[in-house]
Order: sequence, then structure tokens, then C-alpha cells
Amino acid sequence: MKEVISLSKQRGFVFQSSEIYGGLKSCYDYGPLGVELKRNIMNEWWRSMVHEREDIVGLDASIIMHPRVWEASGHLAGFADPLVDCRNCKERFRADKAPRAQPGSDVDYTEGGKKRGKPLKGKVGERGYVCPVCGSPDLSEERKFNLMFRTSLGPVDAMQELAEMLAGKSLPAEEIRRLIDEKVKESAVYLRPETAQAMFVQFANIQQALALKIPFGIAQMGKSFRNEVTVEHFIFRSCEFEQMEMEYFVEPGKQKEALEHWKTERLNWYLRYANDGSRFRLRRHAPDELAHYADDCYDVEYLYPWGWGELEGIASRTDYDLKKHSEHSGVPLTYFDQEEVDPQTGKKGYRFTPYVIEPAAGATRATLMFLLDAFAYDNPRPDSKGEAKRRRVLKLHPRLAPYKVAVLPLVKRDDMPELAREIVRQFFDAGINAKYDEQHSIGKRYARHDEVGTPYCLTVDGDSVKDGTVTIRERDTTAQERIKIDEALSVVRKRLEKV
Ligand code: GAP
Repeated sequence: MKEVISLSKQRGFVFQSSEIYGGLKSCYDYGPLGVELKRNIMNEWWRSMVHEREDIVGLDASIIMHPRVWEASGHLAGFADPLVDCRNCKERFRADKAPRAQPGSDVDYTEGGKKRGKPLKGKVGERGYVCPVCGSPDLSEERKFNLMFRTSLGPVDAMQELAEMLAGKSLPAEEIRRLIDEKVKESAVYLRPETAQAMFVQFANIQQALALKIPFGIAQMGKSFRNEVTVEHFIFRSCEFEQMEMEYFVEPGKQKEALEHWKTERLNWYLRYANDGSRFRLRRHAPDELAHYADDCYDVEYLYPWGWGELEGIASRTDYDLKKHSEHSGVPLTYFDQEEVDPQTGKKGYRFTPYVIEPAAGATRATLMFLLDAFAYDNPRPDSKGEAKRRRVLKLHPRLAPYKVAVLPLVKRDDMPELAREIVRQFFDAGINAKYDEQHSIGKRYARHDEVGTPYCLTVDGDSVKDGTVTIRERDTTAQERIKIDEALSVVRKRLEKV
């Protein structure tokens, strides 16, 4: 993980946000290589979910939606983490992630959580956990902390209005809090914490505009925001991240079959691009883990350096969301099938609220996973000075690799740069991302492109100018071969298609 983080910075994949100002907790910028990798992952997802399927269409909805969306979905009331303060070391943490301990049992800890602090003894409370940092059972009450980022829409200044309203009044703290909440709520809007809700809210518009027949799906990818209490493991969990979600609408009763289909489909999607399939698994949620809207759920999990963890959730969301939005908006979100027999009446013509299967993936999390999966060291080999050196290589799937091919003039003269640029142009014209690179020695350039995962390097040398041939070097094997320049495009294209 440390090596991946350092390579990400060195080679321009991921930087800490606002680094020159000391960085901003859990915010990251995707550099020149990272933006390509993340986009390639998202494009591959879109291709397999939307372009290659007759039954799924896309959506790109506004990030800020009507606040009532979040009331209906339950996010305003329920999308909250239980927060606790440790009275001993002052750590603020999530109760549901805290280390469990037997209620009533004795625990030892130190004053202030310090290594050489005064030894203390305490009893674990009824809630059955202790502080994750110092182990103290001396904890505050749990408070609900909503994960949605709140802002306001329009030229309103709620703070000014509040100041005027409260000026000179002596009110109890609770009353002030109630008045502030009420005022802020009047103009409050939220940054979406998931891309899913817009696909429920636009269900009827999309179904009618495209005359879609059930089963069908709506897919969306883009930014989501959560004011996460615990941010961890680099870009694994951050406050601003990207999701790739699809809502698949089926007739009630057909959800089990659809869940089976999607859990296999989604696991296989990852396996198609990964090097080490043994690090992926499907895990079914235990009944007590299921979200309130789900009747079943699987996670695609990956074996991260710190253990198995979620990569994607595939939930059977029942008809919960469509029904809730229907109730709250007063607009029916149902589907009418003229041909289907209504199980209640036994007659043709069946109106129902569809059930939903939702494969919900994280694009930023998948970026981390593919970096971890691709990062490798080759066996040591002697370098030009005869010293054994390990080669660092990013074995990214060619479709995910930021550059598909690097074109390298051996030296910056004798018409080599011009010819190399001409070759790059051919790749651009064919829609293949190529990189012209003339900086440093050829050995350093190969090493650089191995480290950013470029699958092929084309080297233009003195002979190229004379006989129209170039050397093609493969990243994983380092094998080199001489090919005609005229064939370079088709050779690379064929190799890209083969995988
Ligand atoms: N609509 C359902 C939903 O959003 P989720 O399990 O909360 O479900 C789906 O999120 C996926 O989004 C996760 O499997 C993960 O890949 C990604 N994700 C969620 N929260 C994230 C965060 N704070 N940072 C990065 N990725 C996150």
C-alpha cells in the first residue's frame, strides 16, 4: 500500500488535495495518469453496462436535487453514523466500528491515553465497546451525525436572518438550536450521497420517453459526497468520491433471479481486467447487516493489503424506493404491462411497482484496487552495470492503461522526433491514446512507462528513418520485435483487441 501511494504521487496518478497548504483530510486530486486510469475504468463500466446491452440506458443527473428526495429516501433521518467522544483521550469515533468488549468486564487503560500515563481501571458499559484509541470505557452518549453535506441554494443569508431574529433574546440553548435548524432547513439543499436516487426519481420520465419494457435498467456514474467520520486507506474511503451505479427494474417475484445474474456478472467484470482473481470474492450479507430497504445483498470483496473489504454492493432493494418517492411526491411510479396477467384478478393487464436490483460500485475505490492489483516487482535482473535490479511495473489491463502506446525517438535528432510524432498522430487519428516521449535515456523511458502501465513502447531509431521499421517492446515480458511502421497501428490495435 505504501509503495502504491508513493508511486501514485511520483508518477502523477493521485496527489493529496491542496498539498501546498498542508493537504485537506480525505480529499485527493487525480493527476495526469490518474485521470486517464479512472476514466478508462468508468468508460469500461459504461461500455459493459450501457453500450453493450439492449436493456440498460444512461442518466447524468444533477448532483443537487430537491431536498424532499432525501426526506423520501430516508437519508435525512437515517443516513447517520453514531458518534461517541472518549472522555479520557478526547478521540471522536464511530460506535459501530469500536472494539467490542463484554459489558460489565474490567479494562485497564492510561490517563489521557498516554504511553506513560497514570494507570486507570474501568468497567465496560452496557453498550459493550471501548475507545478504539486508548481502550477507555469512559465514553459520552452516542450522537447521530448525518453524513450528507448541507449547503443552501439561492441568494439567501440564513445566518443574517437568524442574527436579526435572535438579537437581544434570551432563550434556552435547545430553543435556539430548534430555531436555527428550522431557518437553515428553509433553504437547505444537499450534495448527493449516492447516485442512485436520481434513477428512481426519473424512473417514469425515462421509461416513458424511451418506451422501455420491464426488465430494464438505468445507469449513472459520477460524484457522490459523504461527510465520512472515518476516512481511511488513501482513496478507499474519502468524502468526495465517484460511483458507478445501476438500478435494474424487474417484475415483483423476479428479483432473486436478477440478483443471481448481476452478482455473477459484476464479479466477472472485475476478473476480466484483474491479474489475480484469487483476491476477489462474493460475500452474502447476514440478515442483521441488511439495509432497511433490502431483502438480500452481496458484496464483491477484494483482498486489500489490510484484509477483505467491500468493492461493490449488489443489493436487492425491493420496491422500497419507488414506493417511497411515489408516496412523498404524489406521482405514481408504477409500470403497466398489457400482456401480463395480474396475479390478483387473473386477467390480462398488470400494474405493479417494480422491484430493483442495484449493483453499486465505487470508481475511485476501483481505481485503488486496480493499482494494487497491477503493482508488481519482477525478479531481479542484472542492469547495464551488472547489478541485480528489480523492475517496478504496473501490469494494468491494456484497456485501463493510461497510455496504450509510447513512441520514443532514440535520440532528439536525425529526423527521429519528426517520424515519432507522425506515428503518434496515426494513433490519435485512430482514437488510441499514445504518448510521445523524448526525455532521458531510452532505458529510463522504458522504466517510466513500465511504472505507469504503458503496454507497448515503439522505439524510433536511425534505421527507422531509412527502412521504415520500429522496435515494439512489450511491458510485461520486455520482449522486443522489429515491425514495419505502416503496420504499427494494426499490430497494437490487434494486441489491444486480443485481451
Ligand atoms: N446506492 C447504494 C450505495 O451507495 P454503498 O455501499 O454505500 O451503496 C456503493 O456505496 C459503493 O460506493 C461502495 O461499494 C464503494 O465502492 C463506494 N463508496 C461508498 N462510500 C465511499 C467513500 N466514502 N469513498 C469511496 N468510495 C465509496
